[in-house]
Amino acid sequence: MSSHTKIARKTVRHITASKGKAPLVCLTAYDAPMGALLDAHCDLILVGDSVGMVVHGMSSTVGVSLDMMIMHGQAVMRGSQQALVVVDMPFGSYETSLDQAFLNAARILKETGCQAVKIESGTYAADQISHLVARGIPVMGHVGLRPQAVNVDGGFRAKGRTSEERDRVLAEAIAAERAGAFAIVVEGVADDLAAEITQAVACPTIGIGASSQCDGQILVTDDMLGRFEWAPKFVRRYADLRAIIDTAVGEFAEDVRSRRFPSEAELYKLSKGQSKAG
Ligand code: KIV
Repeated sequence: MSSHTKIARKTVRHITASKGKAPLVCLTAYDAPMGALLDAHCDLILVGDSVGMVVHGMSSTVGVSLDMMIMHGQAVMRGSQQALVVVDMPFGSYETSLDQAFLNAARILKETGCQAVKIESGTYAADQISHLVARGIPVMGHVGLRPQAVNVDGGFRAKGRTSEERDRVLAEAIAAERAGAFAIVVEGVADDLAAEITQAVACPTIGIGASSQCDGQILVTDDMLGRFEWAPKFVRRYADLRAIIDTAVGEFAEDVRSRRFPSEAELYKLSKGQSKAG
């Protein structure tokens, strides 16, 4: 056994026990260095299928594959040590049948070592959630604006404008909770509806463009760090990485073109007797 002290990861029990207590801090990550940076601050790191848009330049999450999610999930697991890591089940990997959902969710858990999966849970997905939970796979639900439904919705539109829509989103959340979801992401819904959902379900709600009354908050990390020119209204920008990167890369380009880089201090100077490989 290794003599290194192993830091225990948070479990889904930590997350469910937080209902009504201090808000849960959640962010997305897709690679090991970001997983490592977020780890000390976050209760939960989501390897979201937003990776398709944020990292791979896709126009929606629909084209994201199971293999992509597994690769990014493995990287985040290597980088992090204490946060609960949840990996998204991408579009087309769970809807067909209970067997399909189980086999793909089991692949995610076995090949990444993450502790849970997330399913965008219209009411139809309640069967999938209970099937997975009964077989040992913790599931986080996701209701309201479901990015995988972008082609039915005709865009990324906030939910809760009509009473029919409000009833449907509330029913989706209750169905996910009854099916055994350990937490539910509530995305892009009217503030009061998100608060109502939070009251109505026993598991924690994680808001994104939802309500300060949710049991936790999540943002796409790259949005809140200002890596993109545009971000949704609900994103608070905590940094302007685009400007920082632009300035740094501009300075590098200038230094290279003017031969100011590399300097003497940045060069290897091998003494005569020394091997070139050393
Ligand atoms: O894919 C994702 O990053 C998500 C969050 C926006 C909740 O689902």
